[in-house]
Amino acid sequence: MASTLSMLLCISVLLLGLCSAEDPFAFYDFEVSYITASPLGVEQQVIAVNGKFPGPVINVTTNYNVVVNVKNKLDEELLMHWSGVQQRKSSWQDGVLGTNCPIPAKWNWTYQFQVKDQIGSFFYFPSLNFQRAAGGYGGFTINNRVIIPIPFDTPDGDITILIGDWYTRNHTALRKSLEDGKELGMPDGVLINGKGPYRYNNSLVPDGIDYETITVHPGKTYRIRVSNVGISTSLNFRIQSHNLLLAESEGSYTVQQNYTSLDIHVGQSYSFLLTTDQNASSDYYIVASARFENETLWQRVTGVAILKYTNSKGKAHGPLPDPPNDEYDKTFSMNQARSIRWNVTASGARPNPQGSFRYGSINVTELYVLRNKPPIKINGKQRTTLNEISFSNPKTPIRLADQFKLKGVYKLDFPTKPLTGSPKMDTSVINGTYRGFMEIILQNNHTKVQTYHLSGYAFFVVGMDYGEWTENSRGTYNKWDGIARSTIQVYPGAWTAILISLDNVGVWNLRTENLDSWYRGQETYIRVVNPEATNKTELQMPDNALFCGALQKMQKPQDVTSLATSIKGNTSKLSFTVLLLLLISTMLSV
Ligand SMILES: *[C@@H]1O[C@H](CO)[C@@H](O)[C@H](O)[C@H]1NC(C)=O
Ligand SMILES: *[C@@H]1O[C@H](CO)[C@@H](O)[C@H](O)[C@H]1NC(C)=O
Ligand SMILES: *[C@@H]1O[C@H](CO)[C@@H](O)[C@H](O)[C@H]1NC(C)=O
Ligand SMILES: *[C@@H]1O[C@H](CO)[C@@H](O)[C@H](O)[C@H]1NC(C)=O
Ligand SMILES: *[C@@H]1O[C@H](CO)[C@@H](O)[C@H](O)[C@H]1NC(C)=O
Ligand SMILES: *[C@@H]1O[C@H](CO)[C@@H](O)[C@H](O)[C@H]1NC(C)=O
Ligand SMILES: *[C@@H]1O[C@H](CO)[C@@H](O)[C@H](O)[C@H]1NC(C)=O
Ligand SMILES: *[C@@H]1O[C@H](CO)[C@@H](O)[C@H](O)[C@H]1NC(C)=O
Ligand SMILES: *[C@@H]1O[C@H](CO)[C@@H](O)[C@H](O)[C@H]1NC(C)=O
Ligand SMILES: *[C@@H]1O[C@H](CO)[C@@H](O)[C@H](O)[C@H]1NC(C)=O
Ligand SMILES: *[C@@H]1O[C@H](CO)[C@@H](O)[C@H](O)[C@H]1NC(C)=O
Ligand SMILES: *[C@@H]1O[C@H](CO)[C@@H](O)[C@H](O)[C@H]1NC(C)=O
Repeated sequence: MASTLSMLLCISVLLLGLCSAEDPFAFYDFEVSYITASPLGVEQQVIAVNGKFPGPVINVTTNYNVVVNVKNKLDEELLMHWSGVQQRKSSWQDGVLGTNCPIPAKWNWTYQFQVKDQIGSFFYFPSLNFQRAAGGYGGFTINNRVIIPIPFDTPDGDITILIGDWYTRNHTALRKSLEDGKELGMPDGVLINGKGPYRYNNSLVPDGIDYETITVHPGKTYRIRVSNVGISTSLNFRIQSHNLLLAESEGSYTVQQNYTSLDIHVGQSYSFLLTTDQNASSDYYIVASARFENETLWQRVTGVAILKYTNSKGKAHGPLPDPPNDEYDKTFSMNQARSIRWNVTASGARPNPQGSFRYGSINVTELYVLRNKPPIKINGKQRTTLNEISFSNPKTPIRLADQFKLKGVYKLDFPTKPLTGSPKMDTSVINGTYRGFMEIILQNNHTKVQTYHLSGYAFFVVGMDYGEWTENSRGTYNKWDGIARSTIQVYPGAWTAILISLDNVGVWNLRTENLDSWYRGQETYIRVVNPEATNKTELQMPDNALFCGALQKMQKPQDVTSLATSIKGNTSKLSFTVLLLLLISTMLSV
């Protein structure tokens, strides 16, 4: 019965030209539009998905084929990026300017990708035009297949918490500040799941702010997935009177350890196991507070949500639980980061233990030392750099230029170490060797923590320390249980070393997650090409690929008017498909 249904489903999907494997499909319709909201008590324009801020959680299982029809109802171009989802063999679906043409305003575009051999907690967000500062984000969960045991008891519930700094200015106003060469200044507060703080202090928090409440049953264990989806502020996350048992980080199971609080830098995701073992004499505060800011100057609201036991005897009250007492000493934070280890015996997405990939015994084939500096004027504009290069996005995406053998779109000459010359704008890309093993040193010469993200891969975090990296620093590397993840912080005046096994063909974005610095050019791409002519290591360009730049002429117009009605007409069909899928997966799992 189940197989007949899934065959039928697969045939109908085949007719649409989408069926690529026998693995299940999950369909989503994303209508991205502006709404008016007042998370901090000031009315402003916010980006919503299907009318919700944050958007819906994408909740799938290893090897699912995920189909997301994104309808751009904004007044500007859009690309949705699936941060941390690796896009095996298909940078075509990564949703950044180096690989995709933007979806024009009022158009729609359907992403389709398989979450091959992946598990973990991630999030999606709009990658263009500073839009993430206005929202448009949501959680992205990839569950283990039932046949692969997770390294802890099945939790009693699964909760997504998105935290992030926030400005009451809209994203176009923030963008304008940056264009005018101004800094953004301190954010106006911190949001938790798109909502402002619980009124923990009557003089600081105005009345009438809507806050997040998370309801739990006593004596249970919940998996809490927390991502920092904010603009540029590192946040300290903690729950009053509760331990956070760290269990997973961006797709790797960690050695399980209790933390009273954990620093979560911009773009990072973690799963904690929360045991509801307190007496519920009151509700408890869930806190996300700005890290490394001068509190005297900050005077801004902290992110505060409420953890409510079903048997709670009253409201949360009194002072918030203390943050780490080290405002001007980042050693505590760095030591905490170093304490996050890979559980080498746990299975990840596949049955074999995570640690069966012995990254510590592989020889490095190429080394890049990338140095970030504070913003500097280039051609009259305030810009940020890596190795003195401020990335200038090409009009034609790099991957598309390769496909059509266009010359002169980009250069494969990214410097392997910091240059001494004067900084410049350039479309300079890292030439990655397919099946090579790359070592990247991220050296932060700025006064602010930067987090770096690489698309297409999970890398191994093998070391971090203060000062300048030298070859001798390799002696301190963790060659055994360094965590594999996709987003890592680099403290000011310090370095972080990562190792990457370049087995995923495509063009992959390497960027700072700090939105202001990214907007000003602190990014590049790693291009990985298989020299052997084969269709096995990279998927074909999708049939619906958009064209722009030098290929603009190939783009067929989209009938925007008929679309509005066809999307409406198709919703019920799509929901039916989702229901069908749910039915099938339930039947299969019995
Ligand atoms: C996500 O999907 C899994 C597997 O289908 C299910 O067990 C779980 O309850 C879902 N989580 C949420 C938060 O809906
Ligand atoms: C736009 O949406 C329509 C209706 O859902 C769909 O048939 C079409 O394939 C989509 N277009 C693209 C380019 O994804
Ligand atoms: C590591 O994973 C194994 C295998 O699933 C599990 O039994 C063990 O408890 C985990 N160890 C820690 C310290 O988390
Ligand atoms: C965004 O902010 C700018 C500057 O405050 C304002 O002029 C503009 O109207 C705002 N846009 C919207 C759509 O709210
Ligand atoms: C509320 O915040 C103000 C301003 O930071 C501070 O002076 C005051 O002590 C706080 N009140 C309480 C009860 O914590
Ligand atoms: C973590 O703390 C909880 C209590 O909140 C305790 O039950 C558990 O044993 C601790 N686990 C570890 C690995 O320390
Ligand atoms: C509940 O626990 C708190 C400490 O977390 C303690 O101060 C309080 O006395 C306890 N209340 C009851 C009724 O046991
Ligand atoms: C924090 O800012 C205040 C106000 O500018 C200043 O007086 C104080 O020295 C600062 N604290 C530190 C430790 O820099
Ligand atoms: C790594 O390099 C060393 C020294 O050059 C060499 O002896 C060793 O065989 C290499 N290991 C691998 C796995 O290639
Ligand atoms: C890029 O690297 C490959 C080896 O992986 C090499 O063959 C090729 O010449 C390099 N291209 C450039 C432009 O340096
Ligand atoms: C930045 O680099 C300069 C020159 O090497 C050095 O003097 C300075 O201390 C560095 N600053 C940071 C924050 O790393
Ligand atoms: C890859 O697939 C395309 C389209 O099916 C085909 O034209 C091409 O010859 C294939 N290339 C190889 C090396 O098999």
